[in-house]
Amino acid sequence: MSTNTVVLITGANRGIGHALTAEYLSRPHTTLIAAVRDPKANSKALETLPKGTGSTLLTVKIDSLSPTDAKAAIAALPPSFPHIDLVIANAGVTVFNPVLDITVDEYLYHQNINVLGPLLLFQATWPLLQKSAAPKFIVISSSLGSVKAGPEWGMPSGAYGASKASINYLTRKLHFEHERLVALPICPGWTQTDMGNESAAVFRAAEGGLAPVTLEDSIRGVVKEIDGAIRTEEGRFACYDHKDVAW
Ligand SMILES: NC(=O)c1ccc[n+]([C@@H]2O[C@H](COP(=O)([O-])OP(=O)(O)OC[C@H]3O[C@@H](n4cnc5c(N)ncnc54)[C@H](OP(=O)(O)O)[C@@H]3O)[C@@H](O)[C@H]2O)c1
Repeated sequence: MSTNTVVLITGANRGIGHALTAEYLSRPHTTLIAAVRDPKANSKALETLPKGTGSTLLTVKIDSLSPTDAKAAIAALPPSFPHIDLVIANAGVTVFNPVLDITVDEYLYHQNINVLGPLLLFQATWPLLQKSAAPKFIVISSSLGSVKAGPEWGMPSGAYGASKASINYLTRKLHFEHERLVALPICPGWTQTDMGNESAAVFRAAEGGLAPVTLEDSIRGVVKEIDGAIRTEEGRFACYDHKDVAW
């Protein structure tokens, strides 16, 4: 196990998280820690995924709304667990509403899951990430969280965009606070998942109601960004199409 590349992905049971889990688990000599809210309910969707030679799957419970789950999941790993090389903070939610109508509950819901979730995940995994020769902390963000580009989209995405802008800020801050860490937010594109298609049904009804980016294209681009990510002087906000997004 000690020579395996160790990858942890949250929201591993469906959508982008599941496709990323399938991709990394299919590689040889990979230990994949799949974090889900409900390991019992999700074990089948994960255990049947094909594994590369020498690769193993470990399912843990991390609900982003829990202040203790991430730490507990890491503490429950075998004591001999050597390191974590790649953490992908993927779990996320969105509810659309114009800024005028955003409720306190809606705002906090986005902040708790999309910001505090990844923050607590980083704090919990850093002791093992530090032991990696090339640690990477990736956040699946959104161009709706770009202060420049996000508000220009025609969707009422204020609470969601503000949460992605917050986590982008913290991720870039991590870049400057940890000199060996690759800390990178990546926008996966408007992707054909439950989340992407729910908003497309409303905002792209005239175009057929499907999100414009297939899951396959999104994952291919995101994985290319993750695999090729190196530290840069300024830090980056990457995108599945390899065109960086304005902060
Ligand atoms: N799809 C898009 O167009 C798009 C565009 C830009 C950015 N993104 C970002 O991409 C990421 C993945 O989105 P997706 O499209 O794959 O969405 P999705 O299909 O709706 O899946 C969301 C994932 O997040 C998990 N999740 C939700 N609340 C959680 C919580 N409290 N604790 C732990 N896990 C939780 C879900 O688990 P359950 O099954 O247990 O609910 C599920 O695994 C999100 O961060 C999203 O903001 C998506």
